[in-house]
Amino acid sequence: MNGEYRAFWVNEEGYVEVIDQTKLPFIEETIVLKTADDAIVAIKDMIVRGAGVIGNIGALGVYLAVKEEADIKAVVTKSKAIRESRPTAVNLMWAVDIMLEALLNAQDDLLEVARKTAIQICDEDSERSSKIASYGADIFEKIMQEKGKTSINVLTHCNAGWLAIVDDGSALAPIYELKRRGIDVHVWVDETRPRNQGANLTAWELTQDGVEHTIIPDNTGGYLMQQGMVDVCIVGADRVSANGDVANKIGTYLKALAANDNNIPFYVAIPEGTLDFDIRDGVKDIPIEMRSEDEVKYIRGLNKEGVVEELLITPKTSKAVNYGFDITPARLVTGLITEKGVCATNEEAINNMFKLNV
Ligand code: MRU
Repeated sequence: MNGEYRAFWVNEEGYVEVIDQTKLPFIEETIVLKTADDAIVAIKDMIVRGAGVIGNIGALGVYLAVKEEADIKAVVTKSKAIRESRPTAVNLMWAVDIMLEALLNAQDDLLEVARKTAIQICDEDSERSSKIASYGADIFEKIMQEKGKTSINVLTHCNAGWLAIVDDGSALAPIYELKRRGIDVHVWVDETRPRNQGANLTAWELTQDGVEHTIIPDNTGGYLMQQGMVDVCIVGADRVSANGDVANKIGTYLKALAANDNNIPFYVAIPEGTLDFDIRDGVKDIPIEMRSEDEVKYIRGLNKEGVVEELLITPKTSKAVNYGFDITPARLVTGLITEKGVCATNEEAINNMFKLNV
């Protein structure tokens, strides 16, 4: 990874082109989003996903709304619908709010203001990602030194690479940076049922970049930790409350518990847009997305003829439940790796880093 990968871009016609993440790793295809409604569908159906990119497409969706609508009131209405297209990743609300503020204060050409502001949000996320890469890699190198090792085993859950945040990702950013530093890194990739973002997307990203990795069933991490096969865990997040509680892909909490029980550092990598200063108790108040039970009951894969198929893996009439995210309490998180440095997971430390250190 050279810090140049993006899951989306603005094409020559001024529309937004995105990699269709529902098709990876089997088919590499892009889709063009021409309207704000296209952006909403792309976010809801997870054609694009991952907190950072959801926010970026939210911002670009507002730009598309300006392209379609002459009237600012209609743009505001569309922006509200974009803001509500997925509930947990606060980067979406953060980015749409920045767009609306810029538009409502704009003196000149609204379309140009929308285009520039959206692109600036994406470019700044890219800068944040590269700082997270560097701070995170420093921590990982320190962990190696303390253990007297020349290589490191990292465990991650879901996908928090460049498909989720431009250009290096969040949780995968330090891993890409270690690779650039010539350090021997191996990643345990949780498959991340039910949608398999680990097995499908993280493994695809790491394969593209030649990072050594092994996909593991979601229940394997605890055993690996007990056997000394994991040096550090790192995940991204969809929302971090003011007190440091972390909402991330369902299953993250169990990994944090196992890491805590085995004295293994558990880091969460986030850019500023993932912080929610309005929520003080993440376990109680962060909204958790409920998705279709079909995502649990059906599995997608490539059949022996090379055709992508969806197969039912449960009795037809059994009920299933699909919470998209869980909350890892602040006490289980070793630190937040952010663009401003590494921060303890408590309100005072977060405030000092983000409110006083602007
Ligand atoms: O449902 P998804 O695939 O959008 O969930 C993504 C995650 O949980 C990521 O770990 C999170 O967004 C952090 S990556 C910026």
